[in-house]
Amino acid sequence: MCGIIAYTGERSAGPILLDGLRHLEYRGYDSAGIALQVEGPGLHVERATGKIEGLVRRVEGRLPEATSGVGHTRWATHGEPSERNAHPLTDPERRVALVHNGIVENHEELRAALGDGQTFASDTDTEVLAHLIGRELARGVDALEAVRCAVGRARGAFSLVAMPRDEPGRLIAARVGHAGGIVVGHGEGERLLASDLGALLPHTRRVTFLEPGELADVRAERVCYVDSAGAAVEKAVEEQAVSAVALGKGRHRHFLAKELHEQPDAVLDVLRGRYLSDPFRVELEGFPLDEEGARALRRVVLVGMGTSLLACSVGRHYVERFARLPAEVDNASEFRYRRPVLDPGTLVISVSQSGETADTLAAMEEARAAGCPQLTVCNTPGAQATRVADGTVFLRAGPEISVASTKCLTSSITALHAIALHLGRLTGRLPEELAAEQVRAALHLPAAVGEALELEPQVAGIAERYARFQNFLFLGRGLSYPMAMEGALKLKELAYIHAEGYPAGEMKHGPIALVDESVPTVAIALRDEVFEKMRSNIEQLRARRGPVIAVVSHGDRSLDGVVEELVELPAVHPLLSPVVSAVPLQLLAYHIALERGADVDQPRNLAKTVTVE
Ligand code: F6R
Repeated sequence: MCGIIAYTGERSAGPILLDGLRHLEYRGYDSAGIALQVEGPGLHVERATGKIEGLVRRVEGRLPEATSGVGHTRWATHGEPSERNAHPLTDPERRVALVHNGIVENHEELRAALGDGQTFASDTDTEVLAHLIGRELARGVDALEAVRCAVGRARGAFSLVAMPRDEPGRLIAARVGHAGGIVVGHGEGERLLASDLGALLPHTRRVTFLEPGELADVRAERVCYVDSAGAAVEKAVEEQAVSAVALGKGRHRHFLAKELHEQPDAVLDVLRGRYLSDPFRVELEGFPLDEEGARALRRVVLVGMGTSLLACSVGRHYVERFARLPAEVDNASEFRYRRPVLDPGTLVISVSQSGETADTLAAMEEARAAGCPQLTVCNTPGAQATRVADGTVFLRAGPEISVASTKCLTSSITALHAIALHLGRLTGRLPEELAAEQVRAALHLPAAVGEALELEPQVAGIAERYARFQNFLFLGRGLSYPMAMEGALKLKELAYIHAEGYPAGEMKHGPIALVDESVPTVAIALRDEVFEKMRSNIEQLRARRGPVIAVVSHGDRSLDGVVEELVELPAVHPLLSPVVSAVPLQLLAYHIALERGADVDQPRNLAKTVTVE
């Protein structure tokens, strides 16, 4: 998660940018840089590896005077953390300086399309955009149009700010897809741009958020907005309240909604610095075993509670598939009392957002006593789980305030995908082509999760129609079975509706007795090897007049007319589908809860961190 700050106005830009970067440092700090628009030479660029203070020391007392500039703090995805890969990046003629947050998925394709003569100064995906914009500018194309053309050729989810050398005081911002937002700040005789609202608040509370597909043409005295087709867009200036709570919720009514919408960024933050291209591979810090240790493993046990346990159930598939090790999932509260057979050949992986859940910690203690190597997946730096485990994979999802977990589910699944790929490489059982395919597929996840959020109006409509039902079934098979369980769990805790999640094959062994026109079923029926079986389960439900809401794969209309509601997911690799199918299920529970007037952020009887067994 990189941080972006930009300024144009009458004040000295350098100190404002450096100060803004300090606010953004939590987003990443493997390198940082600023570019200033100066008279004469045009662009003055300064970059340094490491934390912001390193950059500050480097530029202290030697920054040229300038009233416009862009700044960036980086957390590497494409290209190692180094000065040459630090932003701002420029095109070869230095016509434009660019800062970027997110992933350009087709950067290799775009590089190839630029032709052989093109030399690149970095290994980043970003630089290709600088080249594309620079080329348009060289042809005399207006800067806004140049940026719009360049981003129009890019696939992925990202945001950027471009500063054209030859147009003093002008900045162009763009947002593509849902990951990586960008906010315009409207000050007195000045404008700022930032990836986070927090970085703007020392300067102004009057802001405008760019929506996916929008661009902003920013000058100190005015801002114009266009959509991806270049048509003008009217956008309002919002006055931000200053209270910490309001700041925390951003533009959302509830923390739950905010966190749900943060998922493209949260997933991106799991990938950052871990999923690397060129060559495609996963590198994981904090993994407790080397090759020898991994090869000595005989099995893997995954433990957690609630939503984290369901992430484990998906993770089990990944461990089996990529590391070819037997994998089991255990409810942490049951694990300890079952007197499990454990030994140093068992890797125990725990998943806990808080890292303080008593049941999970007790299971970890049990594993420690048996001498098992342990890895924990956790969102909270310094949490007890990270102290018990031999290694931690941090989610970096930011605080999850709403009691019901959303972004930490999708982040945990993504982290388990990374862990299994890493483990597969260490054990030598993961074919390189499969690893490369999975890394490529994972790099598309932030964009796919963002597209899944666009289902919200449709899902809100379904919620309105189904909010008064008292019982629901959720069915899925394979990787979709844990997601069926998660859909039911979310509906129970957010909307206080009785809901059961089952593997679809189990339905005819009992639960189908419940089905009539008063019991809707949410069926996750994706185009995988069990689709035809899911389809016959759906037919069985329909034969008993049970209403069906089907969540289906991208482009699959085969259940049209068979089911009452068809929710079509965006395109995603089948093995990563749980990260995307979780989104409409979360949205459904949220909107049904709203319809029923429930307290979505603090549902009754629950606590965010359960520190009792
Ligand atoms: C459900 C939910 C809970 C938690 C569970 C584990 O929405 O939030 O089921 O997942 O209490 O919490 P952590 O992950 O903190 O161990």
